[in-house]
Amino acid sequence: MGYNLVGKLGLGLVVGCALAACVVSATMVSKRVKRTRRWKKSVKILQELEEGCATPVEKLRQVVDAMAVEMHAGLASEGGSKLKMLLTFVHKLPNGSDEGTYYALDLGGSKLRVVRVNLDGQRSSSLEHDVERKPIPQHIMTGTSEELFNFIASALKEFAERVGDGPHKFSGSTRVLGFTFSYPVKQTSISSGILIKWTKGFAIKDMVGKNVSDCLQEAMSKIDLDMRVAVLINDTVGTLALSNYHDEDTVAAVIFATGTNACYFERSDAIIKYQGFLSTSGGMVVNMEWGNFWSSHLPRTPYDIELDANSPNPTDQGFEKMISGMYLGEIVRRVLFRMSEELGVFGVTASKLSVPFVLRTYVVTIMHEDESPDLQEVGKMMKDVLEIPKTTIELRKLIVKVCDVVTRRAARLAAAGIVGILKKIGRDGSGGTVAAGKSKIEDEKKMRRTVIAVDGSVYTTYSMFREYLNGAISDILGEEVASHVVLKVVEDGSGIGAALLAASHDPFKS
Ligand code: BGC
Repeated sequence: MGYNLVGKLGLGLVVGCALAACVVSATMVSKRVKRTRRWKKSVKILQELEEGCATPVEKLRQVVDAMAVEMHAGLASEGGSKLKMLLTFVHKLPNGSDEGTYYALDLGGSKLRVVRVNLDGQRSSSLEHDVERKPIPQHIMTGTSEELFNFIASALKEFAERVGDGPHKFSGSTRVLGFTFSYPVKQTSISSGILIKWTKGFAIKDMVGKNVSDCLQEAMSKIDLDMRVAVLINDTVGTLALSNYHDEDTVAAVIFATGTNACYFERSDAIIKYQGFLSTSGGMVVNMEWGNFWSSHLPRTPYDIELDANSPNPTDQGFEKMISGMYLGEIVRRVLFRMSEELGVFGVTASKLSVPFVLRTYVVTIMHEDESPDLQEVGKMMKDVLEIPKTTIELRKLIVKVCDVVTRRAARLAAAGIVGILKKIGRDGSGGTVAAGKSKIEDEKKMRRTVIAVDGSVYTTYSMFREYLNGAISDILGEEVASHVVLKVVEDGSGIGAALLAASHDPFKS
């Protein structure tokens, strides 16, 4: 009996264990099957993204053509295109002959920059200057225009008191200032203009439609700061001015930062909407505001459509939303969020992935450029920024691939934009412009060295973006023509360039 009981128990145990083992292995198999299925679906989401973001060279050429056509339309009439092609009244770029101490204010992103430049009347390879950067508090970015300009004027006053006037004296008693205000502005003269709209997260409603220089001038006089705004410019224009000061082959400037934009020197006769105000120099710098460029040839995905719909400025800044630093991280986040929501690839803790704009573009840069064999940086960023504690190596590779697809599209579209400008001014090697009839002259121009000044952290600090952009220029133009196009990094041009332009437009100089 005792033996029987033991025997039965033993048999029961064996059967029980076998059953448990079966259940465990069945569970493992089913988990593995689920994992594999999830994985396949994630890969499918990635493939769809790749297809949606594809930029074969034929498509890029269509974007080039569309850019050149829209430029032409924007120059023909006010409101003729989504490309505003704004007049700047900058007919001449500084040539280095100016002397004196000049100030500049540079407002365009999350920081205000205050600059003082000393000029000694000779072109010099390094300009003596002081810069101070001041973060703009969030409440100022969304408050009132009075608060904004009080903040700017006080920062300028403190800076001027601290650095003094430098070795080169002023031509008059009033100090002269260049103001870089990097939002779409309808200029009424070289020193004044009206804000058309905000971009890049600024939302000071009472400011739209106001004269930007008057607001600053008023705030300065309230605190007895005796300075005169001599030029009101866009950051692209400052960058063009500084680059041209060092290298006269510079024809255009492009910014890839929080926002994106380009400006270039255009012939007066091509600016049809400006006829009647022809300048002696035969041209003017045009601020394209290309962030607002749109064409049906742009490869758009459901992520872009949702991003736009949920933005404070839907249907605006379409090109910028595919290219600039404010949005690249957000596109990547939206893709990862979909993988997380639909497939749970990040586990249940992926809560931060649902927070808009939590994934900044500098984090995308770090992950994309992680060269460690097990992608440690990717794991670290997922943990620190998104609070996802564990990621497998396969998942990290997938994340890097998402970053790659989004950035590659951005950089290649940016390249198409640049070639669009080259095409418009007849420097794309084709010997023609959109406006026909100049082909002989353009033929002569076609092999000339052509410099494009570039600034903005997306270009200067994100080497993969830079490589993709440079590569796409060669893809579109061909190696031979592309070898004549130089993309030159010009840092701090937005501020220093404004001071240079203030000097060459000093109202107190005879
Ligand atoms: C603005 C432009 C500016 C660009 C780069 C865009 O959002 O509209 O005026 O040049 O950002 O800062």
